[in-house]
Formats: sequence, structure tokens, C-alpha cells
Amino acid sequence: MTRFITTSLLMTAMVLGAIVPSTAFAGDAEAGKAKFMALCVSCHGESGKGDGPTGLALAAAGQPAPRDFTVGEFVLDPDKDGTKGTDADIKMVIVNGALVYGGSPLMAPIAGLTDADLDNLVAFIRSLKQ
Ligand code: HEC
Repeated sequence: MTRFITTSLLMTAMVLGAIVPSTAFAGDAEAGKAKFMALCVSCHGESGKGDGPTGLALAAAGQPAPRDFTVGEFVLDPDKDGTKGTDADIKMVIVNGALVYGGSPLMAPIAGLTDADLDNLVAFIRSLKQ
């Protein structure tokens, strides 16, 4: 019996150990939304459709429009792993801008974001997909 309990506790600890770190590192979409509303909304728009005032002006001027995050499709593959729009790709585009990966200079590098900010922004962008 003691052995059974010990084994169960061990199993529980292993399961928790496997779950807790991933939730601890997963982005917080609500916190990401706050950053998005401060730094990205002028182009990407409140709904993430790319229809913020600056985004609309860019499109009207014949420039590439900001990505529509409600579609959830991405164009760039900065880490060159063959899959566009992975979490790593999105973070690299935010930090380094799109130009260096063959995209528009208007998606300029955004300075001063922590790793947690980036995780949170990714979580928020993912939450916009309809
Ligand atoms: C000055 C306008 C502007 C601002 C501000 C801006 N973006 Fe963008 N963003 C763009 C444009 C334009 C594109 C499309 C680039 C292209 O097609 O090459 C884009 C594309 C993207 C993409 C898509 C990359 C892909 O592979 O398809 C992501 C992700 C992104 N932006 C995230 C953000 C985040 C997060 C912020 C705020 C921290 C932000 N952007 C701020 C204009 C902007």
C-alpha cells in the first residue's frame, strides 16, 4: 500500500513536472493584448485584421498591408525551418523587423521587449485567429 501511494505520488509529481513548466512558459494572451494595444494596434488594428489607421494608410499607399491575424496565415520563415509563422518566426519578425527576412520595411523592428513580452504577444496573436 505504501508502495502504491509512493508510486502514485511519484507519478503525480512527474505529470505535474511535465505540465507546470510548459504552462509557466506559455504566453499570457491578456498581457500580450496590453502590449499589442500599445505597440502594434496603429497598424495591425484592434481586431488584428491589419486595419489600424496606419495599416489602412499603408495599404492605400500601395504598401503591403499589415498581416491579418484573424486568418492566422504567415508569410515569413525567419528561422528557415520550412514552416512559416512558427512562434520563433513571429518573435524574430517582431524583434528584427520583416525587412531582413525579405518582408516590408514598414514592419519595423520593435525594441525593448522581454522574452516574456514576446511569448505574450505570440499568445495574443494566436488567440486572434477565427
Ligand atoms: C508601422 C506599422 C506596423 C507596426 C507598428 C507593427 N507592424 Fe507588424 N506588420 C506590419 C506590416 C506592413 C506587415 C506585413 C509585412 C510584409 O508583408 O512584409 C506586418 C507583419 C507582421 C507579422 C507577420 C509576419 C509574417 O510572417 O507574416 C507579424 C507577426 C507582426 N507584424 C507582428 C507585429 C507585432 C507583434 C507588432 C507590435 C509589437 C507589430 N507587428 C507592429 C506593420 C506594422
